[in-house]
Amino acid sequence: MCEYRITGGRPLAGRLTVQGAKNSVLPILAATVLAEGESVIHNCPRLTDVSATLGILRLLGCRVAQEGSTIRVDASTLERNCVPDRLMGELRSSVTFLGALLSRCGGAELAYPGGCQLGPRPIDLHLKALRLLGAQVLEEGGRLICRSRGEMRGQELCLSIPSVGATENAMLAAVGCRGVTTIVGAAQEPEIEDLQAFLRAMGAEIEGAGSPMIRIFGGKPLHPAEHRVIGDRMAAATYLCAVGAAGGCVALSGVEPSHLTAVLSVLEEAGADIHTGDGSISMACAAPLCGVRPVRTAPHPGFPTDAQAPLMAAFSCGTGTTMFVENMFLSRYGHVGELARMGADIQVDGRVAVVTGRRLHGAAVRGSDLRGAAALVVAALAARGESQVSGVEYILRGYENLDSDLAALGAQIQLV
Ligand code: UD1
Repeated sequence: MCEYRITGGRPLAGRLTVQGAKNSVLPILAATVLAEGESVIHNCPRLTDVSATLGILRLLGCRVAQEGSTIRVDASTLERNCVPDRLMGELRSSVTFLGALLSRCGGAELAYPGGCQLGPRPIDLHLKALRLLGAQVLEEGGRLICRSRGEMRGQELCLSIPSVGATENAMLAAVGCRGVTTIVGAAQEPEIEDLQAFLRAMGAEIEGAGSPMIRIFGGKPLHPAEHRVIGDRMAAATYLCAVGAAGGCVALSGVEPSHLTAVLSVLEEAGADIHTGDGSISMACAAPLCGVRPVRTAPHPGFPTDAQAPLMAAFSCGTGTTMFVENMFLSRYGHVGELARMGADIQVDGRVAVVTGRRLHGAAVRGSDLRGAAALVVAALAARGESQVSGVEYILRGYENLDSDLAALGAQIQLV
């Protein structure tokens, strides 16, 4: 069992290139099955979630090669449309294979997806969209069996919640439908725009990603494509929160500042000095972060739920009081009890958490989801004395080099 040993209290200084976005690369890898031939994806982070996705692609019969941060997927040899339960359960975004396989093969059979436990994570909106496009979806013994009944046709799809995964699944299925599909109430996350860019490079006619309405002119012949994945705004947010907690001055490159507007504005309000450039963000923190107006998580462009835990960790070792309201997931305060072991003062009532900053001390703590585990690392960087942070397996799902990146910035952190 691995853990990080972290001795806090050292300010961070230096430059980092941010990894490619986990939440972009996973649906883009699923999309490679849409066309026969070899697609080439650059800027892919080395994550366990990416390895699990490559495992699914291999099992479907695709040839996969990984060299540095470039992944080549040749989907000419695709021979199956069933994904075994073990692989599906390893990650949430495995569900996007549903839309992609329906488009390519007219059917798909897979288990319910896994992913971090953040409370109920239904996929009713995914299935509703696929049914409206003409798929028959049966749920048998925990498995989903989807078949196109004849030709699937474009439709107007209204999402009652701007779900990221449902928007991606609908886009992937709609490129294989005849006619026009309009997704109303679509998720506007930058990762949706990245998926649109890849689908366009494959020859799909699709517009509107980044806005609440996406239009797909389906049935166009698709071919393999080459694409560079965008930088990971959540990894960038985590590093900025680490600077907010430990102090110092760090310059990040490889990330688009406009993807992080809501996070940057909270950090600025809390006293950080932030400068942005083309694909770069630098942040300096001379004093601990001070309390700010309530931080409410919301779909993009609102404050991202994935940055809630790392930011809460940074505020828990700052000064003043900040209220958090988690609107996206029901159980996304798993890190709170562990931060309390480090001395944090956080009161939770349902969706609301009130954080009062104080000096933290080192402790043995355990992460139980990806961003929650990263939050414990952030807090440990600022805490007095040594912390042991376990739950490293969650971190490896979403951060390529968290320990070595932080060590390069001057943190005392070791993976043991
Ligand atoms: C994606 C991200 C995750 C991020 C989340 C919200 C990936 C791999 N993961 O997850 O990091 O935290 O967006 O920004 O990209 N919902 C339903 N029915 C559905 C689908 C969703 O009720 O069919 C609800 C969910 O329970 C949740 C909300 O919609 O309350 C948003 O979920 P969604 O945007 O779908 O999140 P994911 O795609 O799972």
